[in-house]
Amino acid sequence: MDKTKFLDLGNQPIANCFLSDDEFNDEFFYNLSVGFDEESCLVSHMDFVEPIRMFNENYAYRGSMSKTMRLHFKSLSERLKTILPQNPKVLEIGSNDGVFLKNWSVGSTFAVEPCGNFAEETNNLGYKTYPNFWDENLSNKILEENGKMDLVFAANCMCHIPNIDIAFSAVNDVLSDDGFFVFEDPSLEQMIDKCSYDQIYDEHPHVFSVIALQKILERNGLSVVNVDNLSVHGGSNRIWAKKTKGGVSNKSVQDNVDHEKTLGLDEIATFIKFSERVRQSKEDLKSLLTRCVDSGKKVISYGATSKSTTVFNYCEIGTDLIQYITDTTPEKQHKYSPGMHIPIIPPRVGIDDTVDFVFLGAWNFASEIKNKEKDFRGKFITHVPNVRLI
Ligand code: TMP
Repeated sequence: MDKTKFLDLGNQPIANCFLSDDEFNDEFFYNLSVGFDEESCLVSHMDFVEPIRMFNENYAYRGSMSKTMRLHFKSLSERLKTILPQNPKVLEIGSNDGVFLKNWSVGSTFAVEPCGNFAEETNNLGYKTYPNFWDENLSNKILEENGKMDLVFAANCMCHIPNIDIAFSAVNDVLSDDGFFVFEDPSLEQMIDKCSYDQIYDEHPHVFSVIALQKILERNGLSVVNVDNLSVHGGSNRIWAKKTKGGVSNKSVQDNVDHEKTLGLDEIATFIKFSERVRQSKEDLKSLLTRCVDSGKKVISYGATSKSTTVFNYCEIGTDLIQYITDTTPEKQHKYSPGMHIPIIPPRVGIDDTVDFVFLGAWNFASEIKNKEKDFRGKFITHVPNVRLI
């Protein structure tokens, strides 16, 4: 792939690697730059971080921490069950803590999860979970041991895989002739629209447009037959694909492609303009936080997200501007944020009357958070789609 670089987000740490204070000196950093491939229209990192650095037994992100996501996968599973044959064979790639799996029967549902801690957890729940990275070898092994799958599902996982052609072709190998490959990932169209450059971090080597996915799936024997535009994770697309010989696309596919073309998602000029907006966003956020702190206000952040790792490291925001971060995930609490080393504490001790401003690190869960924190009397700060108080 011949990529043209359009954005440099500076030196970044592993976004989900929360540290104790004796680990600061050994922290790994890399340059996070992003480019555009004219041929496939794929937006990807210029250099990929080795997957094992991110996805290992210390992985901290738990999909089931959010009620929004639990309900999201429950309702999708109900919908899928009305479409698939009786007792379908299901494979989930990147099953995390089982937030999707739990809606399916043990015995006919299989999983792939390279993070050992979660593979063990879902194996203990009875779902046969392969603790490996997704590739052709694993797909062949699963095929031999379990046969073809009626559904291959992946949520926030396909965009994690550096060699996307191998990933899609391995799905094609294990999919039954009438099977569905359904996957959802953050949408490039939404990222550009919201200027949510924090969708870009080590775990997201690609940010997909429907235009790019259509081209890349096609060259691996799969066709996009339906696209659902979703609000989760700050704006995602759920892609429904079938083997090319059996797939008939509905109107949603062309509508998405047409809309993306109107926005210029097939042209490098669009991404160069985007990078200018990103630089402005950095200036605006730093100046708002500095004004708050200079006037004696206490500012904290809500949600120790991978997205906020990108923001804090790119904008160089440390404890001088954000005193601490609150997060409900036990694995993140009492540790420090990657790179800028901001302490993380549970919300029940972190949100009190002394807090004036809360930066929404988890801006994608803004309504869930505002609902939970009804008693908070201060103001929330967000940077999407532009820096402001809410
Ligand atoms: P995500 O944006 O990458 O999904 O991460 C969301 C993070 O925010 C995750 O660590 C859990 C945390 N969180 C809270 O602490 N409180 C909440 O109410 C919600 C919805 C998320």
